[in-house]
Amino acid sequence: MSALPLFPDSAAVADGELVVGGVRTSALAERFGTPLVVYCEQTLRARARAYRAAAPDALVAYGTKAFPNVAVLKLLAEEGLGADISSRGELEYALRAGIPGNRIVVHGNNKSLEELRACAAAGVAQVVVDAPDEVELCAQAGIRSILVRTTLGVDVDTHAAIATGHHGSKFGLPPELAMETLAAARAAGIEAAGLHMHLGSQLLDAAPGQEAVVGLLQVVLEARERLNGWTPTTIDLGGGLGIAYTGADTPPSVDAFAGGLVRRFRQEWETHRLPQPRLILEPGRSIVGQAGFTLYRVGVVKATGDGTTYVAIDGGMSDNPRPQLYGAVYEALLAQRADEVVAPGSFAVCGKHCESGDVLIEEARLPHPRRGDLLAVPATGAYTLSMGSNYNALPRPAAVLVGNGSARLIRRRETINDLLALEA
Ligand code: LLP
Repeated sequence: MSALPLFPDSAAVADGELVVGGVRTSALAERFGTPLVVYCEQTLRARARAYRAAAPDALVAYGTKAFPNVAVLKLLAEEGLGADISSRGELEYALRAGIPGNRIVVHGNNKSLEELRACAAAGVAQVVVDAPDEVELCAQAGIRSILVRTTLGVDVDTHAAIATGHHGSKFGLPPELAMETLAAARAAGIEAAGLHMHLGSQLLDAAPGQEAVVGLLQVVLEARERLNGWTPTTIDLGGGLGIAYTGADTPPSVDAFAGGLVRRFRQEWETHRLPQPRLILEPGRSIVGQAGFTLYRVGVVKATGDGTTYVAIDGGMSDNPRPQLYGAVYEALLAQRADEVVAPGSFAVCGKHCESGDVLIEEARLPHPRRGDLLAVPATGAYTLSMGSNYNALPRPAAVLVGNGSARLIRRRETINDLLALEA
């Protein structure tokens, strides 16, 4: 039962079975098959509303990369959110979901002219320029307003692969170059609307963000001097709020993290008598991460020579590569035996891929699993399906949305024919 708080808000155990959005997990597995990524509508809406409440006057642009899905984008748009996109594909998802251009923010550290042209045609709110020569590309593409992404030299406590606020990052420009890029944009007749920062992802501490706001203020004050009173009209404070993957993670609330950041920003600007710009926030994981979980079917359960007991599931690193990429740690429960006492020791939950490193959970605490059991892994709503692969020619799982006692497919399961259709 200990993993239950990691599941979506609507999760409960009834008759020993995990129920989410009023739907039994066994019914979901029966109807849609496994592996299956299940999203809870109530949680998605609650997180979106928490952001809107924490920063009522900001544009909250959902970080589409966390889970690009038209139904989810539509639902978030209903809650007043926009989208942060970083490729042509993500742009098309946002447009398909009906997100208006003026709520779309464009990222990417190597945007193509073709991508920028599509963004201009969509009338996007902002392109966030990541390199000096992107100004020229933006001019060619007909982009009229930009932000410049700057790195403020703020270190954060997260995996190195997802820290972006330090000076060695492949993203953004150091303040000096960022200011030159703002000037170049103005010279090219493009509105240099402001600056962007994003410190990293899966942040469990709000303090570095507060520090970064002070750094941003210094850059703005200096830019005002150098660029004849230039004043930002838009500032994008990025995303980054983490979620609990295990009981040991204690993320700050949306209000403490994002609300705190916005309040600190407003206060610093007030103190320095700067006109308040429009703010943008870009949460990804903290919107969809806890809202989603993955259901797998247990197959082989076997003991090895060193005493490890492997519990093999019908997916693995192709539907969630985060353990391999970031050493991510997950918990799990047996969805239909959720109130049973856990067995002594632990179980290694492994995938079905041809690779020894295909281990989803090294030490899962579970009742002794048996073939046919359903294993539910919480906090898989962000950066799992979106980073999935077809390793070993495994079709990627389906995703469903649950709420008010019903479930609907929001992404169909891939088929082997889908994969073969790509072959010559
Ligand atoms: N804004 C920008 C410019 C970003 O690069 C990102 C994430 C976000 C916003 C959203 O950040 P979030 O709120 O989700 O932390 N695949 C990794 C995470 C990569 C994050 C990429 N950028 C993972 O699975 O942990």
